[in-house]
Amino acid sequence: MKEHAIKLTILNQLADGSFHSGEALGEMLGISRAAVSKHVKGIQAWGVDIFSVQGKGYKLSEPMQLLDQAWLQSQVESPVELIPVIDSTNQYLLERINNLESGAVCLAEYQAKGRGRRGREWISPFGSNLYLSMYWRLEAGMAGAMGLSLVVGVAIVEALEKLGIEGIKLKWPNDLYYQDKKLAGILVEMSGQAGAAAHLVIGMGMNLMMANHEQSVTQNISQPWTSLSDVTQSAIDRNQLAATLINTLQNALNEYEITGMHGFVERWNRLDNFLDREIKLIMGNREVTGLSRGINEQGAVLIETAQGLETYIGGEISLRGLS
Ligand code: ATP
Ligand code: BTN
Repeated sequence: MKEHAIKLTILNQLADGSFHSGEALGEMLGISRAAVSKHVKGIQAWGVDIFSVQGKGYKLSEPMQLLDQAWLQSQVESPVELIPVIDSTNQYLLERINNLESGAVCLAEYQAKGRGRRGREWISPFGSNLYLSMYWRLEAGMAGAMGLSLVVGVAIVEALEKLGIEGIKLKWPNDLYYQDKKLAGILVEMSGQAGAAAHLVIGMGMNLMMANHEQSVTQNISQPWTSLSDVTQSAIDRNQLAATLINTLQNALNEYEITGMHGFVERWNRLDNFLDREIKLIMGNREVTGLSRGINEQGAVLIETAQGLETYIGGEISLRGLS
């Protein structure tokens, strides 16, 4: 069997949330109970909460809805690849960038090396969140990349709104926040420039049921965070959510290619988590404090300081709320 195939088969069985005996699982897979137990430990190391009861077998703490590649592909026009266990979906697309069509998507259930901005880790336990990357060939070239990254945030919040999920906001440049806590992060990476176009990989990690995980999984998250399960009481269909995000994102990126930031500034400012609130911009050793005033057509963040209205742009700036 292929690497991980046994673990994924066990997970498929356990996904219903009921007990499955080691014996039955072993029989199905043609392996011993001891081998099943070893694989279960491996699954637990992916951040899945499985417990075992003598005489009953193994059970997930919560049922799990797995992603369904065939269904997703039926909903999306561009190629969709589901690789359940991966190092990083962004890395995967970057390594194949010359052979991809614009809009191609990679999704995973678990990332061993999920990454955030500036090489930080993105905590990516199996099966409960979304880890999604899309390749985009941006005809406008590098000059358009800053705006594109803001458009991605707008598109993702608007996709959630389409599904009836309200109250999600943006933190410049492109994190999703709910009640001042991080719900999702976006990482746009570039792979050079052939001719005029820029080759971008847009990655998004969104917490759906992170709160169900044990503290050992989430303890390394270094800032306040939240999950979609804290935003809505309704059950979240992970496949429906992924398909809506992909399609809404592609529509917004196509629109951006035609109109640029026109229209997106207002859409971004409507969703600004810190609009008219006191913020701090951190740029290496330098800090600027003032009132947040949204973004401009260049995608720069506007801050009203004692010196007047100032604009800042660039990847090395961190924004923090002060009130
Ligand atoms: P900055 O504005 O300084 O760039 P950021 O919020 O964009 O801040 P990154 O530099 O992108 O942060 O680093 C990722 C941050 O996200 C880290 O603080 C990390 O601990 C946190 N993090 C990692 N995994 C998750 C997760 N699943 N949910 C929420 N936050 C996470
Ligand atoms: C951030 O730091 O806020 C950005 C986090 C981006 C995480 C996503 S998960 C899918 C894609 N693959 C990665 O390794 N990172 C991004």
